[in-house]
Amino acid sequence: MLLALESIILPDLSPDSALTVRKASLRDVDAIHELIGYWAAKGQMLVRSKALLGESIRDFWVVHAIMPDGLEGIAGVCGLHMLASDLAEVRGLAIHPNFQGKGLGKKLVLACESEARAIGLPALFAWTYQQKFFEACGFHRVDKTNLHPKVWSECQRCPFYENCQEIGMRKELE
Ligand SMILES: CC(C)(COP(=O)(O)OP(=O)(O)OC[C@H]1O[C@@H](n2cnc3c(N)ncnc32)[C@H](O)[C@@H]1OP(=O)(O)O)[C@@H](O)C(=O)NCCC(=O)NCCS
Repeated sequence: MLLALESIILPDLSPDSALTVRKASLRDVDAIHELIGYWAAKGQMLVRSKALLGESIRDFWVVHAIMPDGLEGIAGVCGLHMLASDLAEVRGLAIHPNFQGKGLGKKLVLACESEARAIGLPALFAWTYQQKFFEACGFHRVDKTNLHPKVWSECQRCPFYENCQEIGMRKELE
């Protein structure tokens, strides 16, 4: 069964699926592309091409879902992208609509955070409309006029470049 929502059709993953948080693989690119595309079509995040996802696949964590009938899918995705030797961006965070509000977004951000701590990164950054969610993950809002220059790297391909309403958020890890 498929769940038709606006222009993107997502697989109708069952909420009682068995869930595993793991690093993404190239086999996940199509499902990640659909999930990000679903929310991008609603203006909630920046769309990512399959080519871009493929070349940055090592950035991503996913929540892999196995339904009681054995069918599999991706219930959530989140990337950790190195911007500089002292800063990485949490990006491409998307949770399947059947799994929102169940703690998966926070789990994925924590997975990225653990990875960042393991390599000695002192801070994380995120662009978002979801201030409350990121505050629940320990981030704080930062002034847009005083940001690391590398945080603007994806803005050129954003359709809202001239009229950006996203806020910048940061978390110190030290
Ligand atoms: C925003 C999003 C990632 C949150 O993921 P989620 O799995 O639904 O959130 P969680 O269940 O992990 O919530 C974690 C915490 O954030 C809070 N939270 C989540 N969304 C919130 C919201 N919209 N408003 C207020 N609080 C929110 C929860 O209450 C929870 O708080 P707690 O830890 O104190 O209990 C998810 O809803 C989503 O994919 N949204 C659409 C795409 C998007 O906006 N992506 C972010 C791009 S930066």
